[in-house]
Amino acid sequence: MDIDSFLADLRKHGLANTIPNISDKNARFLKDMIHIGGVKNLLEIGTANGYSTIHLCLALRENGGHLTSIDYSLPSYNEAVENIKKTEMDDIATLIFGNALVELPNLPAESFDMIFIDGQKKRTIDFYKLAYPLLKEGGFFIVDDVIKFSEKMSSFYEFLEVEKIPHTILGIDEDDGVMMIVKR
Ligand SMILES: C[S@@+](CC[C@H](N)C(=O)[O-])C[C@H]1O[C@@H](n2cnc3c(N)ncnc32)[C@H](O)[C@@H]1O
Repeated sequence: MDIDSFLADLRKHGLANTIPNISDKNARFLKDMIHIGGVKNLLEIGTANGYSTIHLCLALRENGGHLTSIDYSLPSYNEAVENIKKTEMDDIATLIFGNALVELPNLPAESFDMIFIDGQKKRTIDFYKLAYPLLKEGGFFIVDDVIKFSEKMSSFYEFLEVEKIPHTILGIDEDDGVMMIVKR
């Protein structure tokens, strides 16, 4: 399996079908964060067709890590299962079909080093609140698309302001950026 050409084809498929996959620059950033942070256990909210999931798995494999990813769209979940199988990442990734708002409380507390939030933007605040107990002390959140969709995330921004939660916004590419929040 030539993983680079598989990912290139999957990106083309994503673009042709308006699947909002992460950009190449964001993929590189997320993989760098996994390396720098020595991430072993990662949670992703919003699998889509598994494009980001495969990138994350590539970095996690080098750390001997594991990923759990949730999506509530059955066609997306099925596509992701197939893509994870094809890329032989099924020993690294556990895909959950379900609504993250329902599934998150069922996951083990303080078990993740990194949580990547890339689900429905206006629900970001709910994902954050439900996922917070799942993150280890010293672990970090990466929230995607926080510039382009800041209006849809206004309740999340207000919450961060009111609760005085330190957060850093990083411009990743021409299109958008991510937010990092460290749990301490
Ligand atoms: C932006 S896409 C994810 C893209 C993917 N991370 C990538 O870069 O390849 C958002 C995904 O989140 C899923 N989603 C949105 N809200 C959700 C929820 N409450 N529970 C589970 N999945 C959700 C959607 O079905 C969609 O597939």
